Amino acid sequence: MTDTLFSREELAEIRSKFYCVDQDMDGSSRLFFDNAGGSLRLKAAEEAFHRADQMPDCSEHSNRTARYLEEVEQAGIKDLLEVVFNARNGVICPGYTASQIMMELVRVISAHAQGTNYVTTMLEHPSAYDAMTYYSQIHGCELRVAGVNKQSGGVDADAVIRLIDRDTAILCCMAASNISGYIYDLETICREARRINPDIFIICDAVQHAPHASLDPEGCGVDAMNFAPYKFFGVRGFGVAYISSRAASLAHHRIFGTPADNWSLGSPAPGHYAAIREIVNYVAGLGAKIAPAGADRRRLFEAGMSRIASHERALLGLALEGSGQAKGLRHIKGLRVPMDGAPLCQRDFIIGIEFDRLSCEQAVREYEKRGVITFERSAESPYSKRMVEAFDSKGMVRVSPLHVHSPEEIERFLLVTEEIAGM
Ligand SMILES: Cc1ncc(COP(=O)(O)O)c(C=O)c1O
Repeated sequence: MTDTLFSREELAEIRSKFYCVDQDMDGSSRLFFDNAGGSLRLKAAEEAFHRADQMPDCSEHSNRTARYLEEVEQAGIKDLLEVVFNARNGVICPGYTASQIMMELVRVISAHAQGTNYVTTMLEHPSAYDAMTYYSQIHGCELRVAGVNKQSGGVDADAVIRLIDRDTAILCCMAASNISGYIYDLETICREARRINPDIFIICDAVQHAPHASLDPEGCGVDAMNFAPYKFFGVRGFGVAYISSRAASLAHHRIFGTPADNWSLGSPAPGHYAAIREIVNYVAGLGAKIAPAGADRRRLFEAGMSRIASHERALLGLALEGSGQAKGLRHIKGLRVPMDGAPLCQRDFIIGIEFDRLSCEQAVREYEKRGVITFERSAESPYSKRMVEAFDSKGMVRVSPLHVHSPEEIERFLLVTEEIAGM
């Protein structure tokens, strides 16, 4: 399928729905290409959060506003479970970050999962990788790590499957890489893992994939999958996970007297659920423009995410190959795109680039001087050391636009990149 950009008119409408698309806080012009670190904010999500958060009422109490806030919360949970995660069963676990939830998931599942080894991959975020390392040591299990494919920027399905056997208690495998944008073949990995060991517990970090595609953990046989709303057009201070019925009923921290599969502790802010609902409304609205009449909310959401992916992939192609106005990253002298081997359909728009004459930290500063925000994925940082070293790199500049960006902005970024590469 060819990737299509949003029309000029629709893109203008989309951009008007987000804050600070082309401006910094002080009104100065900038391109924000660090959405993998925290995405541009959907106005409706922020406004819904603030509206609900103005009220002091406790959603578990009985007064009128409390009951309203409870409804907001339940509607958000329903959207998360049925629309974002496409699940018929299972529960939603809220937390304050995706990392905190991931560590808790690994803690609980590792206390129950039967077997002698755990499998994970070299590109996992430290919240997953370090939890797997720590609990493999606590439970005396071998930790097996699938290495990278240096060409594609990802981890091949075979490299993961090869490590799994009947004694693999837990597989922890992300949906897409936060350094290369590589989309894992989760369907094949999960199907084969479960064929080898039907009892395996599968945990998936979908933090970087969620803003670019629709998720389907139940369809893949994943037991737990998390994401971070603040990287998905939403509000910071919230993380969520889908947990399958089987995993949800494992003994975990819980107020006794609440259901055995309840993973919600205390009182999360109803505003976060109000924001989630607006994110789903927004994506479903994009989907409604192409979905058949009568499509349900999940189908509208899927159609919306596929339009987002299509626009982003068209921009990714432009960034790599360039246009009549600007040379593409693949053709600019003085820089390399090291993890560029996978076809575009296997990639979310996250690129790592290396400059011949500048460190990633220096390059990020040069971008900022020119009004472009990127991020250094440096071997100096515990958040990226393992990943960049797997690609024999000391560090890369990570470039992560969003579907709100235009081809002209990609061209502007390319012209700035050529100037920096020529320094
Ligand atoms: C792939 C991935 N997983 C997990 C996280 C952690 O998310 P949080 O900041 O919500 O803990 C990040 C954050 O950058 C990420 O990129």
